[in-house]
Amino acid sequence: MARRIRIPLLIDILEVDDAASIDAINQDPRLDRAYGRTGPLFNRMLAARLMRVFRLDGALFPTMLGRTDAARASAQAALAARLQETPVPDLADDDAMVAYVRGAAAREKAGPALQRLVGRLFDPAFTPAEGEAQRLWDAAIRFDAAARSPNPLRWLQQALFGTLHADRNILAGAVGRDPMAIHAIGIALHNIMKSLDRLRECHDDPVRRFALDGRSAAIAALAAPDAVLRQAKAVADVPGGSLTPGTLVQLKLADAAERRLDPAIAFQSPSWNACPAAGFVARLLAAIWIKARAKDEQP
Ligand code: HEM
Repeated sequence: MARRIRIPLLIDILEVDDAASIDAINQDPRLDRAYGRTGPLFNRMLAARLMRVFRLDGALFPTMLGRTDAARASAQAALAARLQETPVPDLADDDAMVAYVRGAAAREKAGPALQRLVGRLFDPAFTPAEGEAQRLWDAAIRFDAAARSPNPLRWLQQALFGTLHADRNILAGAVGRDPMAIHAIGIALHNIMKSLDRLRECHDDPVRRFALDGRSAAIAALAAPDAVLRQAKAVADVPGGSLTPGTLVQLKLADAAERRLDPAIAFQSPSWNACPAAGFVARLLAAIWIKARAKDEQP
């Protein structure tokens, strides 16, 4: 299904939420995510803001870089190859993520444990002490929420008080100011956390608790990003409408992935923008589920 929000000179956004249209638009070279300041007023403001928020020391986060950016593609391939070889760390019996899925620990405990695990994928010495771990997790929650806000009044508030930049700096300081690692511990890990929320719901339900093995639990619980954004670089007729330069298109991955229960949609696996952590995340969710289930008695 497609929805168009268009007020001449002010805003022009197309939303699509079915897998076929998402795929067609994502593969169309006339659309990209290297956002320029074109189109109506709100579109230009949003594009400029994203380029400010997801940038550090002049370097853009990987999810802001264009489809043909060779350095982006090689960093994506290098991370994918490295994570392919990375085993999921052994999970202790009292691991906070496992306890959270079993309904025996709070989200506030599981979040920092997950962040530590993701941070260590980039720096094996990433071991913040308890107080610092809490500060980093809180910064990740605020940074993600602030970055996703579509409300220009909140943008103004964040600019005036510098809160978003402060949280980005807290995260940056923990991972050597590497934009890919900040993306991982500040943005991407919220998709894993949301997947843990769903594993917890599965565990809470006696039918699903005993019906799902590790792989099927990981598929059932996997949470995709709500949406990813593309910008029309030229006039283009695409599923859902005709675009002019600057039209923004929201590819609503979560809706599409949930309808099909398809990890390839959630991770954009066969595409130029494929998530390099796909295999690792799937193995991690399965391992957490198996560990959480280990103490359950069969009915
Ligand atoms: C449930 C967990 C996750 C899901 C569903 C997910 C999904 C995605 C999706 C859909 C994209 C494409 C974004 C776009 O099209 O603009 C993406 C990109 C990316 N993801 Fe993930 N992700 C997850 C976790 C992670 C983790 C834990 C890491 C790091 C360890 C990571 C690293 C990246 C990177 C670096 C990119 C940019 C790739 C590029 O285009 O160069 N992701 N992810």
